[in-house]
Amino acid sequence: MTTTDNRAPVHMGMPTRLVTVSVDEREVSVPEGSTILAACDAAGEDTPTLCYGDTLTPKNACRVCMVEVEGSRVLVPSCSRRVQEGMEVKTDTERVRHSRRLVLEMLGSSVDLSTTPRVADWMVRYAADPERFGPPAGEQFDRDVHEPGEHHLPDGSTAATMEQPVKVDNDLYVRDYSKCILCYKCVDACGEQWQNTFAIQVAGRGFDSQISTEFSVELPDSACVYCGNCVEVCPTGALSFKSEFDMRDAGTWDEERQTETTTVCTFCGVGCNLTLHVQDNEIVKVSSPHDHSVGHGNLCIKGRFGFQHVQSREDRKRRND
Ligand code: SF4
Ligand code: SF4
Ligand code: FES
Repeated sequence: MTTTDNRAPVHMGMPTRLVTVSVDEREVSVPEGSTILAACDAAGEDTPTLCYGDTLTPKNACRVCMVEVEGSRVLVPSCSRRVQEGMEVKTDTERVRHSRRLVLEMLGSSVDLSTTPRVADWMVRYAADPERFGPPAGEQFDRDVHEPGEHHLPDGSTAATMEQPVKVDNDLYVRDYSKCILCYKCVDACGEQWQNTFAIQVAGRGFDSQISTEFSVELPDSACVYCGNCVEVCPTGALSFKSEFDMRDAGTWDEERQTETTTVCTFCGVGCNLTLHVQDNEIVKVSSPHDHSVGHGNLCIKGRFGFQHVQSREDRKRRND
């Protein structure tokens, strides 16, 4: 969730009172317990976020949302710090701009951000120059077998990258960790925050850290149940539907030609909501509304990936052509 319109956290109860804070010298009132990010949104400030998820506990991993708070020695992450009455927040000081620029430059120099929504605009806004760390060092075929805890020294003339082969090991979703910013959202969605399957975790240390299944096995050999709840929260497109991956590869993926229709899943009686993304009369992926009281954006394999039966006749026809 990267736009200001749809990233308000899902509140489970009634707020007790409003808290008034100042954002860039503008007073706003937000419910007690809100984050500074929510106050910035209320004040009309467009704050960049990457690791923030409206259905997840903040991880403070990316640090692109930092702001200055009067009286605080260090910058604070707006996505997790709660507002306090009378708080004075500054979002556009030289210190904030410098911090956001550096985060964007370091991410941009090491990660493929080509499918991360809005990041190109932020690069321009903060005059970020990822190229200043040198040309990309290139693909690392052995990334899965880096020894945990070992630090691999850079060569000093190129920028180390996450670039590595795409993992295509099943028909439902693809893992392209060249695009992974290690935000932990997939791990939290798969783990105790939602799915409780624990199929993925962070392996390794420092720059060699990566998201991995147990013993780096392929997904079909892992504990994964293909709920796709990790795909739902991934902010960069590192995790994507196989259908989207294939269409991007073929140059036919076009979000401007897609419509979104939210309906109720018919596979069982739980009542999960599905949002069907349709291009050229064909379902190309399925998401789920984060503010829906049943699933909060989460689905099972049937709701997430069981859409092929709707268009299986067309698929069969295409295969026979
Ligand atoms: S699809 Fe579901 S079970 Fe599999 S890794 Fe993602 S969140 Fe975990
Ligand atoms: S795969 Fe996506 S959700 Fe998981 S850590 Fe990487 S960027 Fe975040
Ligand atoms: S969005 Fe706040 S630390 Fe990442």
